[in-house]
Amino acid sequence: MTDLVLAETAHGVHTLTINRPDKKNALTEAMYAALADGIAHAESDPAVRVTRIRGTGGSFTAGNDLADFAAQGAKPVSTGDSKVEAPVTRFLRAVSTTEKPLVAQVNGLAVGVGVTMLLHCDLVYAGESATFQAPFVNLGLVPEAASSLLLPRLVGLQRAGELFLLGRKIGSAEARDMGLVAQVLPDDALDAGVEAVARELAAKAPNAVRFTKGLLRKNHGEIAERMAEEGRIFAAQLRSAEVKEAIGAFFEKRPADFSKL
Ligand code: COA
Repeated sequence: MTDLVLAETAHGVHTLTINRPDKKNALTEAMYAALADGIAHAESDPAVRVTRIRGTGGSFTAGNDLADFAAQGAKPVSTGDSKVEAPVTRFLRAVSTTEKPLVAQVNGLAVGVGVTMLLHCDLVYAGESATFQAPFVNLGLVPEAASSLLLPRLVGLQRAGELFLLGRKIGSAEARDMGLVAQVLPDDALDAGVEAVARELAAKAPNAVRFTKGLLRKNHGEIAERMAEEGRIFAAQLRSAEVKEAIGAFFEKRPADFSKL
């Protein structure tokens, strides 16, 4: 496992810590692979009852690494016959299908997949200063992780429109009020608070927890289908002039200009 994702198990809780603070915990392919491996490990180890995901250095995650996006967009078009699942796809499949509960600890900024993965987490806790933003359209992209299905169901089409079409950033209280977050805790109490909840859950009857999670989330087929549809559009957009302009603008530290596209 890369040291950009740390993993440890204690008291039945498998904690995955995203650890790339100098890049605001932006996720590279290797990091998605490590997170997917961590969830697979938790799924298969009977000693693990709960998986917790958190970040270091005051960020949860700034989302997909934009240099990785640029590199993927520059690759020749795949013939589609590859049997190798992309790390991000494996990660999204893992979070959306794991039978053991996922607890997220949003300890700072959550951007892009940092927001959409939360829709698959069974309990989400945020620090007071946490922020949430899904700027897919700002980047010339579309939402992923079946969030185009799950977010409007959770918050309604109008608020989903503000989050996804405008890429509006919201704070932790608003995220809680719209149901994306279970509770907001003071920043300095977040780690211990989530640890306590995760241990509480880990001590409960494991089959009852697993069956209950399964009953609460009974729409795997629909989710997989939406992820595939989002993935097709996302992959095509990654190669577009819109994405080239948006990512170029980010690294050149200037506003994107879509006026001529
Ligand atoms: N991919 C690659 N690098 C990223 C990144 C990302 N998603 N997010 C942040 N970084 C890097 C920055 O390039 C910068 O690197 P540098 O120090 O080598 O210049 C470093 O992390 C710190 O980021 P910075 O932008 O200086 O911090 P900030 O506090 O001013 O802003 C963000 C933080 C997250 C708001 C801003 O970095 C941002 O908008 N990042 C892009 C988020 C994004 O669009 N993610 C994809 C969603 S689909």
